[in-house]
Amino acid sequence: MIKQISGGFIIEAGNSTMLLEVNEVQKPVLAYYGPKMKEPESLTAFKTPYGTAMGTATLYDEKKAPTLTLDQLNLEISTPYKGDYGSPSLLLEGQSSPVYDFVYQSFEIRKPEPLPELPSPHDAEEELVLKLADPAQKVEAELHYLTYKDSGVIGRYLKITNQGEPLDIRKAMSLQIILDGEGFELVNFYGTWSGEFQKDITPLNHLRYSFDSTTGSSSARHNPYFIIKKKETSYQAGGCYGFNLVYSGNHYEEVEYSSFDKLRVQTGISPLGFKKTLQKGESFVTPLAVLTFSDQGLNGLIHVMHDFVNAHVVPQEFAYKARPVVFNNWEGTFMKFNERKLHSLVRKAAAIGAECFVLDDGWFGKRNNDKAGLGDWTVNKRKLPHGIKGLCSYVHKKGMKFGLWFEPEMVNPDSDLFRAHPEYAIQDGIHQPCLARNQLTLDLTKPEVRTYIIDAVEAVLKSAPIDFVKWDYNRNMSDIPMNSGTFFHDYILGLYQVVGKITSDFPKILFENCASGGNRCDLGMLSYFAQTWVSDDTDSFERAKIQDGMVLGYPLSVMSNHVSAKISNQMLRKTSFDSKFDVACLGILGYELDLGSLSKKELSNFKQQIAFYKAHREVCQFGTYEQISTLEDSSFSTKEAHNAKEAVVSRTVGICRPVPSQESLFAIGLDPNADYHYAIRREDLDLRRFGTIVNYVLPIHLKEEGALISFIAKFKSMPCETLEGDMSGAGLMGGGLKFPMLWNGTGYSDKVSFMGDFGSRLYLLSRK
Ligand code: GLA
Repeated sequence: MIKQISGGFIIEAGNSTMLLEVNEVQKPVLAYYGPKMKEPESLTAFKTPYGTAMGTATLYDEKKAPTLTLDQLNLEISTPYKGDYGSPSLLLEGQSSPVYDFVYQSFEIRKPEPLPELPSPHDAEEELVLKLADPAQKVEAELHYLTYKDSGVIGRYLKITNQGEPLDIRKAMSLQIILDGEGFELVNFYGTWSGEFQKDITPLNHLRYSFDSTTGSSSARHNPYFIIKKKETSYQAGGCYGFNLVYSGNHYEEVEYSSFDKLRVQTGISPLGFKKTLQKGESFVTPLAVLTFSDQGLNGLIHVMHDFVNAHVVPQEFAYKARPVVFNNWEGTFMKFNERKLHSLVRKAAAIGAECFVLDDGWFGKRNNDKAGLGDWTVNKRKLPHGIKGLCSYVHKKGMKFGLWFEPEMVNPDSDLFRAHPEYAIQDGIHQPCLARNQLTLDLTKPEVRTYIIDAVEAVLKSAPIDFVKWDYNRNMSDIPMNSGTFFHDYILGLYQVVGKITSDFPKILFENCASGGNRCDLGMLSYFAQTWVSDDTDSFERAKIQDGMVLGYPLSVMSNHVSAKISNQMLRKTSFDSKFDVACLGILGYELDLGSLSKKELSNFKQQIAFYKAHREVCQFGTYEQISTLEDSSFSTKEAHNAKEAVVSRTVGICRPVPSQESLFAIGLDPNADYHYAIRREDLDLRRFGTIVNYVLPIHLKEEGALISFIAKFKSMPCETLEGDMSGAGLMGGGLKFPMLWNGTGYSDKVSFMGDFGSRLYLLSRK
């Protein structure tokens, strides 16, 4: 709900209320943002008292407000040189005075309009436009506030229109909000390839903090999602604010505590390499930022963000639609495959219950390694004599959907495309462009390049009834062209045009976003592609940490997770297939390994895993998520997804202790008065995990890692601990259920849990 009230405006979103005041000097300021409240009649009680002008205060307008200085206002937009000495959210450079002073003129409450050329979440309900202007400079600024049906999220963006002399925009943040009070902390997500979404928590001092992406994409280095929380806020209680950008390019976030304990928060396009010139009559619209408030701790924030992405961000065609269990051949074959090998994988994938077979990199051009072929999107007939159509039909006959990998924004210098059109690649014309993974980025600011990509991808999609596309993007940008004030931004606008066209021409195809894993994982890409490959790191322990970070802002239904070989390609760490499953199953489950090298027992285990997942897919993909503990604050990462029917709890341990403590489950969100049946998902443990201690109980002597134990292990395994019974929701939430104690070096029984370092377990709580 958005309404004008005396002195300003009220915006109600979910369980939050925002009050915006237009004050006596016509500046829009934040009067309140917090728990939902009864609609006040006026904003009088929420006004900041400007008792006296402090020593060095610069008085904005002595006549209208004798004690008021901009420095002490919670400004919704800030420009320099008028007494606000914090970081400006808008920086303009014109022909004459550097002073731009925007004051309120009028407002409009309207049916929301989508942002031009940029992704806009759907089902926006209402939009408030605050129209400001600097009449002396003839520049207008509009502050836009959007609400979304049944959502606690508020959308924000800025539009600048120049009616005067040409000017340059040097910085234009989508959102500025200033919060009052001490003791705030910043939670941000940094990372790298194979180590995305690492969580940092920084107590904030009276400094300016910033993070950004300068790689050309939203990047794994700093995801645009971040949180401001009170020091005492935990997952389960306390106040916190979440911020994100619906944008896939270079972004910039700034958090600054003023000397008056006002916390200024900004997010928008990165000012690096950004200079937008506006001629008279021209406008610039920033990408949309989204924000939310929760007084129910970080889990409360998670609920609002997950619902928002599920209901308003991902393409409507796929909103709340079950995602298929994928088999992907990448780590199983890399680019070394032929039709026979793929057919055999297809049969095995179908037999274990996979629902979509995805052919990854290596099917096109002269793509036998990553040195050649990108850009040439025609099938390699040596590998696939019956083409994509032939393979697609084989997969369909085996009862699965068919998916195909593309990396359309890239080109290898060793490709027909580059030989014919070197000018399609991004380069500055005077330096040798840097290669990354032997490739260059195509210049999507050029219309002919966009047309090439659309035609090339669509030709393949038209050639066979393809159901799924994995769209990859595997390098960061360098060597950007000269005189390109908005190159990075124009690239992203070009990308949105390309993916907008292809996804609307093929609305039934499910697209998976990928950028070497999570190097472009953001709400912009999710507006076109309903799911995203979280990380190339499929080591289950690392993955648990990555997923624990990502899930703070992105729902399970977009997180694509694969079970891969036991020894992870990325860490060379060994974890069991079951641990991998226990981590992968909160999200979209997939498999990515050579099924041909597995034993019957292992394949039958996969079959059981997939059957379990299908039976509980609804809660695994769309359940309400609760983080119970993290590896930062305990030895376990424990989380849960629940719906009215059941809850799935996944638990991963870090390094086991020699004398483990007794742990209990503290479930969240169950019905306290209902009865539940709880049960561990039974797993078989590899005999070899027990080393030479098996000799303690066996009549024969087995050598550690010897041929005999390896042979026996093919058929025989140890059952994991048991845990099964009934308990009320209240008991399960109150710590009534005790986990079996971890292995402590002596004695193994069904009441001892041998998780081993980095192991995981899964528990099902079914409402009776
Ligand atoms: C990237 C992706 C992988 C795989 C390879 C193929 O690294 O993240 O999943 O598709 O490219 O080259």
